[in-house]
Amino acid sequence: MKIVRTVDELRHHVAEAQGQGLTIGLVPTMGALHAGHLSLIERARKENSLVIVSVFVNPTQFNNPVDLATYPRTEEADCAKLEAAGVDIAFVPTVEEMYPQEDTRVFDLGPVAEVMEGPMRPGHFNGVAQVVSKLFDFASPTRAYFGEKDFQQIAVIRRMVEIEGMDVEIVDCPIKREDDGLAMSSRNVRLTAEQREIAPAIHRTLLSSVAWAHDHTVDETRRYVIDTINSFPHMEVEYYEIVDASTMQPIHDWADAPMAVGCVTVYCGDVRLIDNIKYIR
Ligand code: PAF
Repeated sequence: MKIVRTVDELRHHVAEAQGQGLTIGLVPTMGALHAGHLSLIERARKENSLVIVSVFVNPTQFNNPVDLATYPRTEEADCAKLEAAGVDIAFVPTVEEMYPQEDTRVFDLGPVAEVMEGPMRPGHFNGVAQVVSKLFDFASPTRAYFGEKDFQQIAVIRRMVEIEGMDVEIVDCPIKREDDGLAMSSRNVRLTAEQREIAPAIHRTLLSSVAWAHDHTVDETRRYVIDTINSFPHMEVEYYEIVDASTMQPIHDWADAPMAVGCVTVYCGDVRLIDNIKYIR
């Protein structure tokens, strides 16, 4: 595996691969890799001849400086995992390499970015669009892989690809969970032992809400999830929205969307966890 730190070097390897007619799979990450990332890499390996994984904690998508400062950074362990996973190129740039000048681009991300994470984390999605558009430009991927834990992020990236006219297939991959159901996340390591024990209640509640939804309205189901999760110690729901899976717009009647997704953000102590569940009618 090559560890590449500059954009020029990455472009050089990409041009070489394109010259040989290889397909390129890109897995963008912020490091602190876990089995969820590895499942994206495995899929990228199956579907492409060259796999590039970027490891970059992107400052422009953090609207909270404490979150940026405390985000886990484990470069050495990450590179060892990438090597073992059979990755061809690990792209590990510095902030200066990615942003030689301030990135002032503002993307017109539209309604998909105006709900849930949009108002809760102002500037977050624009920062995601900035970094992902740069990565797509440098790596020219045939396909790029993203985990469904960040369900809204995938919709935003699809929108960015559409408005920028980019030629890349966005592949969404199912959430990887711990044995007790907690969605894998780089932030999980910040949970105390007690919080870690309680946190799987998020997924358990979402699962039980699918059965509940059969004979309750959307608003009753929303209330059920919020009240149930909030009844556990350390847990506070920031939002729970049930949205149309393709437009991200909140629905009020199950008939409003063929597939709805319930997206939740929960503070477990001071760790912000997100998860989601599909309601298929
Ligand atoms: O989902 C993430 O880890 C990040 O938002 C991404 C897509 C790597 C962009 O920094």
